[in-house]
Amino acid sequence: MKFRDLANVTLDRLGRMGLAARLGLQVGAKLTHGYQPNPFVSPPQPDPRDCQGRFDAAMTILGDMECPSVLDVGCNQGYFTFRFARKGGICLGMDNDRGELMVARARAELHKVRNAAFLELAIDPGNLAGLPRSDIVVCLSIFHHWVRHFGRETACGMLSLLATRADKAMIFDSGQPEEKATRWASELEFMQPDGATWIAQYLRCLGFERIHAAGLFSTSLSPVPRTLFVACRV
Ligand SMILES: C[S@@+](CC[C@H](N)C(=O)[O-])C[C@H]1O[C@@H](n2cnc3c(N)ncnc32)[C@H](O)[C@@H]1O
Repeated sequence: MKFRDLANVTLDRLGRMGLAARLGLQVGAKLTHGYQPNPFVSPPQPDPRDCQGRFDAAMTILGDMECPSVLDVGCNQGYFTFRFARKGGICLGMDNDRGELMVARARAELHKVRNAAFLELAIDPGNLAGLPRSDIVVCLSIFHHWVRHFGRETACGMLSLLATRADKAMIFDSGQPEEKATRWASELEFMQPDGATWIAQYLRCLGFERIHAAGLFSTSLSPVPRTLFVACRV
């Protein structure tokens, strides 16, 4: 082996050891929000937002897709990005929280996941149209954040734009007005008389042919479970 190759292999190994130590420290000291479990360990650890249940329920509707490309908006530590990446397609997760992305990126590197990448990006009305199109868009538990930050009209416009990036399906859930224990429930009053019906109708308005309610999933934020939707083009 040439000196240059040997030096790069050594530096790579050292970098990985540092990354593993950083990840262990970050997770061990609970420096992240702990929304999502580690998809690389079995059986999975505590899963307060039932990521595993939501993924399995969505796959029941989507069936066995071959190498789907995926855009995971508000990916957090990349649970859904990694689960889809196992199917072989190019998967892109994005989030504005650097701490959560440090975990996602370290896991991608340490587990040698070559078809998943993570962007540190604060999604806003100005950059959504520039996102690449993909087979599946994952838009989970982020819409109510947009309503809080940008207001109802802009948030709905953002969701419409995001839908244009989904060639086959969008997996969607959101905070709902029924989650009274949360600080943002009152800002979702426009979904009344009930959140699930409003979401299903809105997804239909965005041009999806079939809207499936894939199940109810607990959130740990309130006793009210959230409906998971899979909106399909055909
Ligand atoms: C409640 S967590 C949901 C995580 C994941 N989608 C799930 O359902 O398990 C919301 C995530 O969206 C991210 N987020 C919120 N607003 C965002 C924005 N404007 N751009 C990018 N990420 C955002 C947060 O950092 C957080 O990781």
